[in-house]
Amino acid sequence: MTTVKCSIPESIANLIPPALRRDEREVPTVEEEVPAEIPLFLSVKAPSSQDTPAPPPESGVSPRPSEPPGDGRVHERLREIAALSQPDRYAYLDLLGRGGMGVVHRVADRVLGREAAMKLLEGPLGDRPVEVLRFLEEAQITGQLDHPGIVPVHDFGIGADGSRAYFTMKLVRGDTLARLISTHRALGLEGRTLERLLRAFVRVCEAVSFAHARRVVHRDLKPDNILLGSHGEVYVMDWGLARVVEGGRPSERAVTRGPVAGTPAYMAPEQAQGRNEDIDQRSDVFGLGGILYAILVGRGPFQADKPEKSLLMAQRYELERIDDQRENVPPELARIAMKALAEHPDDRYPTVEELARDVEEFLRGGGWFVTRKYEPGTTIIEEGEPGSAAYVLVEGTCEVMKMVDGHRIKLRTLGPGDVFGETAVFTAKPRSATVIAVDHVTVKVVTRESLERELDRSPWMGAFVRAVAERFREADEKLSKR
Ligand SMILES: Nc1ncnc2c1ncn2[C@@H]1O[C@H](COP(=O)(O)OP(=O)(O)O)[C@@H](O)[C@H]1O
Ligand SMILES: [Mg+2]
Repeated sequence: MTTVKCSIPESIANLIPPALRRDEREVPTVEEEVPAEIPLFLSVKAPSSQDTPAPPPESGVSPRPSEPPGDGRVHERLREIAALSQPDRYAYLDLLGRGGMGVVHRVADRVLGREAAMKLLEGPLGDRPVEVLRFLEEAQITGQLDHPGIVPVHDFGIGADGSRAYFTMKLVRGDTLARLISTHRALGLEGRTLERLLRAFVRVCEAVSFAHARRVVHRDLKPDNILLGSHGEVYVMDWGLARVVEGGRPSERAVTRGPVAGTPAYMAPEQAQGRNEDIDQRSDVFGLGGILYAILVGRGPFQADKPEKSLLMAQRYELERIDDQRENVPPELARIAMKALAEHPDDRYPTVEELARDVEEFLRGGGWFVTRKYEPGTTIIEEGEPGSAAYVLVEGTCEVMKMVDGHRIKLRTLGPGDVFGETAVFTAKPRSATVIAVDHVTVKVVTRESLERELDRSPWMGAFVRAVAERFREADEKLSKR
């Protein structure tokens, strides 16, 4: 997966509206590129103890340092860090991975006698103070977000010659979510695997929600940036594009990275269009929706053969919807993903917690059943008609009617939790009564197939319900022969 980060290829830059375009390819001189107002220490901590709830977006944490911002002493500061660094402490072992701008090595920590992961800026980036500062911010943000779903940072350093900035962190032994998704695509996503990935997804949401409570927006959420450890650990990686949101809006970063930053295949439209002032937590909700989409269909929402194409698709919001008829995709999950991936931030989940809650609700069961709504007065099932689905009333009231001696009589009234039409799931008989919506009605539709899917998730319950259904069929057959 390609990440468009620091330099924007010409073909992509041309897609950005001219008013928003700023050519990053022109590398300014060192004096020009380092503005005077650079916070050398970034703080993402909540103002008081960690137990206090997150402050409302308008008050509290400042992304600015508690001590006065730098006054152009950037080079001096970088020299200080270099003097404090111990690059020789680590011995290179092998390559762990490569992303849009960094390379990650497995290293041996010669002091503590353990292995660690070391991220380094790739190639010439490591020689540019402005990039080193961004990299320092990445390490500071990651290091200050102290959460089980965010990888602990050990150390930041700069090579003795002033180049090769690095940071070390906990070594995660496992796989990226991207790799797991592609393996499972090849093998087929059966129920258990889907549940495992969804539980990991909820953990990802928890880590992102923690960051949001500290006003940090990740801005590059995608399966490549999620690491799943071999012992069930889930980590949100790569906070290289993260921003601290100030007063509900993203701060002008000390060193901004140009109009478009992120991964086009997973980018929210506001991010793809370079509307940086509109980026907030809901842009991460979009990214999480993209991860859920990838779990369900095996690719990112704007996946294309070239990142330029993906960017254009993201800018125009050309998204292939997952509808509730898609094979192998539980309708409820399709609904959740599409809500998180809404074009306008106001139509998305307002918070990551709400997104996670719906996924957790799915994990509790019933997500294979399609939800349907009926206006008052609508006939939901009609006596004598063939039918194959049962209904569970979620909201509203229905009336059950039957023709007796040429007159339609009311048998009973149904409310939330009641079930009707269940005979059709087990036999091929026509409907024995008519059911009409009295007011606004919401139902879950139980077809034989969706019931099988649900029962597969719970083997003991499945065995029991299948046995009862079989007895029901036998009894029904005996009755019909009489
Ligand atoms: N702590 C770690 N332990 C193990 N592998 C890691 C670790 N951090 C990163 N990696 C590997 O390196 C890859 C690139 O890291 P990432 O931080 O995403 O870099 P970039 O900013 O260049 O995208 C990841 O996809 C992952 O495979
Ligand atoms: Mg990455």
